[in-house]
Amino acid sequence: MTETTARIIDGRVHAERLLTRVKTEVARLKTERGLQPGLAVVLVGDDPASQGYVKSKGEQSLAAGMHSVTHRLPADTRQEDLLRLVGELDVDPLIHGILVQLPLPKHLDESAVIAAISPDKDVDGLSVINAGRLVAGLPSLVACTPTGCLILLRETLGDLTGKRAVVVGRSLLVGKPIAQLLLAADCTVTMAHSRTVDLPSVCREADILVAAVGRPRMIRGDWIKPGACVIDVGINRVPFDNPEQAAAGKTKIVGDVHYKEALGVAGWITPAPGGVGPMTVAVLLQNTITAAKRQAGMVA
Ligand code: GUN
Repeated sequence: MTETTARIIDGRVHAERLLTRVKTEVARLKTERGLQPGLAVVLVGDDPASQGYVKSKGEQSLAAGMHSVTHRLPADTRQEDLLRLVGELDVDPLIHGILVQLPLPKHLDESAVIAAISPDKDVDGLSVINAGRLVAGLPSLVACTPTGCLILLRETLGDLTGKRAVVVGRSLLVGKPIAQLLLAADCTVTMAHSRTVDLPSVCREADILVAAVGRPRMIRGDWIKPGACVIDVGINRVPFDNPEQAAAGKTKIVGDVHYKEALGVAGWITPAPGGVGPMTVAVLLQNTITAAKRQAGMVA
C-alpha cells in the first residue's frame, strides 16, 4: 500500500465559497443597480460530456439569480447559422456573457466563432484580444479553468512568489493561460508538452505541477517532487480497473495524474473528479458578473 502524504484540495468546497460570493453580488447588483447579469451558452451537437457541462452551466447560473439562456443546436449546424446566432447574442442587451461550448463539430471553424464574440462578452477569455490583454498584464476576461486553478493554488499555498511551476500542456483553453497567470503571480514557469525531452525530470523540478494534457494517468508518482502541489486538470473517461466491470462497459473519470501514486509523494493534490472541475463553472459566473459590470460602465 502506498502511504498517503498528500492533502486533498477539495474543489467543491472552494467552488461553493466562490458561488456564495457570486450569489451575493448578483443580488446586490439587482437591488442596487437594477442589473441582472445574463449568460448565454451555445452547444452544437450531442457530445455527452459537453451536454453535461452545458446543463450544469445553465442550472448554476439560474441558481445564482442570473438571466440564463441555453441554445442547443444540431451537430450538422452550418457555420453561417452559428455565426448568425452568436451575432444576435452579441447585440442582445440582456446578455453580458457568451460561451460557445468546445470542441465544436469538425466542420465548424472554432477560431471564426470565437472571433464573432466581442471581447467584452467573451467570458471564456478565448478571444485574441482577451488572450493578448492577459499577456500584456491588462485587465481582461481570463479563461475559467485556469482562473479556477489559480484560485485553488492561492487558497492552498498563499503567496506563490518564486515557486517553480511546470505546466504540462499548451492548449489555448488551459495550458497557455495558466502559464501566464502563474507568471503574473511571480512563479518561475516552464511550459512542457508532447515534444519536451525528459518530461519526468522537468516535472520533478516543480513546486507547482499543473497537468493539462488530456492523457489518462500519464504523470506518474516518481515524476513528482516530494511535497509539490499538483493540480490535475484532466478529465478522462476510462474503463474500470476491475476486468469484470470493464467487460460490462463500465467507465469512470480519471485525471492526467496517476492519483494513487501521486498521493504518496505530493504535498497537495486535486482529485479528478471533484478538484478543478467545480471551479470552472463558478469562475464562469464570476466572469459574467465582471462582464455585466463593465458593460454597465461600473468597472475599468
Ligand atoms: N470545453 C471544455 N472546457 C471548456 C471551457 O472552459 N470553455 C468552452 N467554451 N468549452 C469548453
